[in-house]
Amino acid sequence: MTASWSFWQGKTALVTGASAGIGLQIARALAARGLNLILTARREDRLAVLARSLEAEGCQVSVIPADLSRVEDVARLAEAALAHPGGVDVLINNAGLGWYGYYSDMPLAVLNELMAVNVYAPVLLTRLLLPPMIQRRCGRIINISSISAAIPSQGIVLYGASKAFLDSFTTSLHRELRGNGVSVCEVRPGPVTSEFYARSASREGGRRVPAERFAVSAERVAARAVRLLPYPRRVTNVPALLGAVPWLELTFGWLIDRLGPLLLRRSHPSKTLPE
Ligand SMILES: NC(=O)c1ccc[n+]([C@@H]2O[C@H](COP(=O)([O-])OP(=O)(O)OC[C@H]3O[C@@H](n4cnc5c(N)ncnc54)[C@H](OP(=O)(O)O)[C@@H]3O)[C@@H](O)[C@H]2O)c1
Repeated sequence: MTASWSFWQGKTALVTGASAGIGLQIARALAARGLNLILTARREDRLAVLARSLEAEGCQVSVIPADLSRVEDVARLAEAALAHPGGVDVLINNAGLGWYGYYSDMPLAVLNELMAVNVYAPVLLTRLLLPPMIQRRCGRIINISSISAAIPSQGIVLYGASKAFLDSFTTSLHRELRGNGVSVCEVRPGPVTSEFYARSASREGGRRVPAERFAVSAERVAARAVRLLPYPRRVTNVPALLGAVPWLELTFGWLIDRLGPLLLRRSHPSKTLPE
């Protein structure tokens, strides 16, 4: 029954990080499938523009601005979402941020923000929104992770670790909930065209990385994420070829140990690695 698009029409999805990039495209794709939306991010003006355009197409949209690095905002968001008529059937944990550079240079404020938004916010939102889904025996929680979860890399130490956490969290919950009508799934994109690189690089001390040259579109990631509603699976890689990456890490980790640091040196020409 849940393996049909019509089942999801009129259901409600909460999308975090809906003001830009992948989250914005997921919101559009969900609206096109007939879901009602709760949109959140910090930039309220952008959410309002998106809401107006989706409402013009017949979608019911609520906007709840929140800074997910603040635990009180996360709790307030969950409370408001749960008070929404019909509750929340789909949670898309998409909001996230990156930072490039040597971990020893990472400003503590960015460290705290990254852990709060990439790790603590999805964990807390999931904990607060999951019980009613289990009660109704219907729900989807879709975590937007990253291929960097599967191939720990120099220069994105904490970002990769935060996504690896999400990877493990998703896998365990997916298994725990099997047979309950609720599926917890993970989307692992490679590089995606969005504001992500520019914003990550603009944080103090960060640099751009070459990966964005190979980026796929945010629309493509969104289409794969939304497909998990009728066809849930624990993990989906975008592009699918990236499914080979965990195998690469297992098989050639020893080689990556040697070559990876050289790549980081090239993107940080002013620095040498500590011996
Ligand atoms: N782009 C890539 O190459 C790539 C690859 C793999 C995985 N991902 C993951 O995909 C997700 C979306 O990334 P994207 O590429 O769409 O990046 P993006 O264009 O920079 O969008 C990030 C979104 O997260 C929101 N956000 C950031 N900090 C927030 C905070 N403190 N509170 C609330 N919302 C916050 C932003 O909204 P406001 O700034 O308005 O708050 C924005 O809507 C992230 O989890 C990212 O790690 C991206």
